[in-house]
Amino acid sequence: MSRGAPFSHYFVDALARAQADESSFGDAVRKGLPQALYDEALNAIPQWPGYEPTPLHAMPGQAALAGLAGIACKDEGARFGLGSFKALGGAYAVRVLAARRQGPLTVACATEGNHGRSVAWGAQQAGARCVIFLHERVSPGREQAIAKYGAEIRRVPGNYDDAVLACARVAEEEGWTIVSDTTWPGYEEIPSIVMAGYGVMLQETLGQLTQTPTHVFLQAGVGGMAAAVMAAFHYLHDGPMPKFIIVEPRNAACILASVRHGGRLTTVTGKLETVTAGLACGAPSPLALSIINGGAHAVLAVDDDAVIEAMRALARPAAGDPAVVAGASGAAGLAGLRAVMQNNGLREQLAIGPDSHALIINTESDTDRSDYLALMGSGLEPEGGPART
Ligand SMILES: Cc1ncc(COP(=O)(O)O)c(C=O)c1O
Repeated sequence: MSRGAPFSHYFVDALARAQADESSFGDAVRKGLPQALYDEALNAIPQWPGYEPTPLHAMPGQAALAGLAGIACKDEGARFGLGSFKALGGAYAVRVLAARRQGPLTVACATEGNHGRSVAWGAQQAGARCVIFLHERVSPGREQAIAKYGAEIRRVPGNYDDAVLACARVAEEEGWTIVSDTTWPGYEEIPSIVMAGYGVMLQETLGQLTQTPTHVFLQAGVGGMAAAVMAAFHYLHDGPMPKFIIVEPRNAACILASVRHGGRLTTVTGKLETVTAGLACGAPSPLALSIINGGAHAVLAVDDDAVIEAMRALARPAAGDPAVVAGASGAAGLAGLRAVMQNNGLREQLAIGPDSHALIINTESDTDRSDYLALMGSGLEPEGGPART
């Protein structure tokens, strides 16, 4: 798309509802992510060496194109030099576990890249051994970004969900501690610490916003990030809740499938092929789903083409906006926003229009540089900056 051109019309599949179920949302938040977990994380992480809040960008140009009063974009690209918001979660849980443990600690997880990088970084800092399970299509660039923190890499055939299963099996045999960003029955405590760490994003955002958002677009893989931000709104934001809109890739829309089934956990299978590597999950986190199911006003599934267009719009922004380096998973929130704004029915159902203020989160920068450049297309490479590692 050229600068300033109207958005293309892309496929969107959506379930929207007039009202979220506030009471089941509040119950699910307090049960799944108790306030004490947030208090601890919000106190601990800002004390880490190198901590700096990430920027919140105003995007008046993109807002004008979309027909909104404002768009604010929380930009997680620079988070602790790891390239994504995930630096707040896995690494935090590893530090909590290391502080509790007397003897040697081995942590393990399955990952699409960003979570494993965070766990590996946290383990290196805490002096713990770390084993990371990657499915067959995780790119070599993402593998290197994890291995550089001293983690052992195990490759697993299949998709992300297969890697989760392999990790669970081996960790059980070896007596390792799994630091997952997703929950399953009987395994919730550690992921809930991971999710509380993500709350730092919203704590910062609330201090940076000049306008209270009316609509918040949250991209989802297993749903942990979205649920964590929704829970942080519950604890930290005074006043009415904004409308939460969850955005998934069309080929891995497990939360949409689950919400369609009344919140019953529903998996999607297959290769889960999408450019949004971080969102390529076939099974939601049950804990996250319980929060999202009560609190979200809509769940959308968008095409990769819409995501790529949003990446390009962020890199080559509308007049008045800063250029933002967003990896595919990072740009998915904006893709969802643009999909809603070109769809009359969804706009009406979500009561979003010229008076609305949207919040989006760019959850990652070019965490895989070669993937990023390939998706930007020729002539769209962002200015400046050597390749990141
Ligand atoms: C960049 C990025 N954004 C969003 C997500 C989605 O987070 P979750 O799986 O908790 O829904 C991920 C997950 O890996 C990610 O890497």
